[in-house]
Amino acid sequence: MSISIKNADDIIKKLGQVVYIAGTQWGDEGKGKLVDILSEKYDIIARTAGGANAGHTICVGEGDNVKKYIFHLLPSGILRENKISIIGNGTVIHIPTLLDEINDLKKQGIDVRKNLLISDRAHIIFNYHKAIDEIQENRKGDSKVGTTKRGIGPAYTDKISRRGLRMCDLLNFDAFALKLRKNAEHHMKEYGFEFNIEEEINIHKDALEILEPLLVNVAEYLDKAYKAKKTILAEGAQGTHLDIDFGTYPYVTSSSTISGGVTTGLGIAPNRLESVIGIVKAYTTRVGSGPFPTELADFEGNMLRDQGFEYGSTTGRPRRCGWFDAVVVKNSITLNGINSINLTKLDVLRNFKTIKIGTGYKLNGQPVAFVPASLEDFDKVQVEYEEMPGWTEDTSKAKKFKDLPKSAQDYVKRLEEILEVPINFIGVGANRDQIIFR
Ligand code: GDP
Ligand code: IMO
Ligand code: MG
Repeated sequence: MSISIKNADDIIKKLGQVVYIAGTQWGDEGKGKLVDILSEKYDIIARTAGGANAGHTICVGEGDNVKKYIFHLLPSGILRENKISIIGNGTVIHIPTLLDEINDLKKQGIDVRKNLLISDRAHIIFNYHKAIDEIQENRKGDSKVGTTKRGIGPAYTDKISRRGLRMCDLLNFDAFALKLRKNAEHHMKEYGFEFNIEEEINIHKDALEILEPLLVNVAEYLDKAYKAKKTILAEGAQGTHLDIDFGTYPYVTSSSTISGGVTTGLGIAPNRLESVIGIVKAYTTRVGSGPFPTELADFEGNMLRDQGFEYGSTTGRPRRCGWFDAVVVKNSITLNGINSINLTKLDVLRNFKTIKIGTGYKLNGQPVAFVPASLEDFDKVQVEYEEMPGWTEDTSKAKKFKDLPKSAQDYVKRLEEILEVPINFIGVGANRDQIIFR
């Protein structure tokens, strides 16, 4: 509990040369905002995993001039022109979506091609992966995962089954087109849908000119950068409980969302990772299906959704909302090796008479320290709660910890006590400057 961070300059000194930003709950904790803030200090910002299922929001500017950006594939440091942004090999890239993001920024005068690099080993999401995602979800009926329908699962399935196409394949375009045709035909037969293969080939041919100069061996690039003492901020996507191995399977995404993704998704050796900052929402949200023991299906849940604008950044779906779940966050601390926490959206917890913290689970009357593996057990867990007084004051202008009302301070301190990791950053609003260093 010894780290204290007084300002942004303190971060590299205290947290080190290579840092990972991890979602600790079920995604949308506010990772993008902290990555954007820290990217001012770090040389390289690199996305480890996931695809356009992610939606990372950054709000820049003041008053009526606040500009909101939502990035799906581009790393959240991309607004800093003098920094290198990298999309790692652990990601899955839908090229038209990436080009749209690049073009949208270009229209606003930001040419990211000067500072963006893409792994030559990242897998490509084709439009047929999106079609398959939709078909699989429909076939599952009531047990659907509630995916973002961005083709994530089907693209990672192709990767694991060793038929996927990677960014480097674009460079031998004739061979690429042949493989694409074969894969598309295979999937059309398997799933029974029509698909315009020629159009898909042309989309990728047109993209080559823009993408070719951006492709690199990311592991090699980062190794050189590391040896040259460059600082690296690795940006995770989704959250620990959406992880393919450690999440609430099968209601998960199809990639590694935990800090191991720094190795598998960027090629950085594990002993080079010095710190992991856990992004922890001051309450809990989840989009899509699956277990959520502290979910509130009442007016308090609606209040959290309204006050926190809890609607998906990628799909616009209303997020399910509930109280803080310490079992979930402690599980993430263990799995990721989190040594520093950014508590986000504390400002949203205003106007509750009391605020509850889920401190533990009981399963068949016995306490359980970790989230259970099976869905059947998850259904049976009973959450034990602690209740704390709420506050009515607006905290969105607080600059220092002592500016917060006493009840809000007590809530933060109690979470810190339960989690046994320092809460070094506290979010009190969506904007870049609405953060307390501590
Ligand atoms: P990410 O996927 O983890 O990057 O998070 P999202 O961008 O999907 O969702 C987080 C939402 O909360 C975004 O709309 C952010 O602008 C917003 N946000 C982030 N931090 C804070 C905060 O401290 N307070 C408030 N009120 N909003 C925040
Ligand atoms: P960021 O990075 C929240 C959820 C989906 C669904 C499940 C599987 O913005 O935090 P997928 O499309 O990945 O196959 O969907 O995972 N999901 C997210 N939820 N934030 C995200 O990303 C998510 N990415 C995927 O809602 O339940
Ligand atoms: Mg998001």
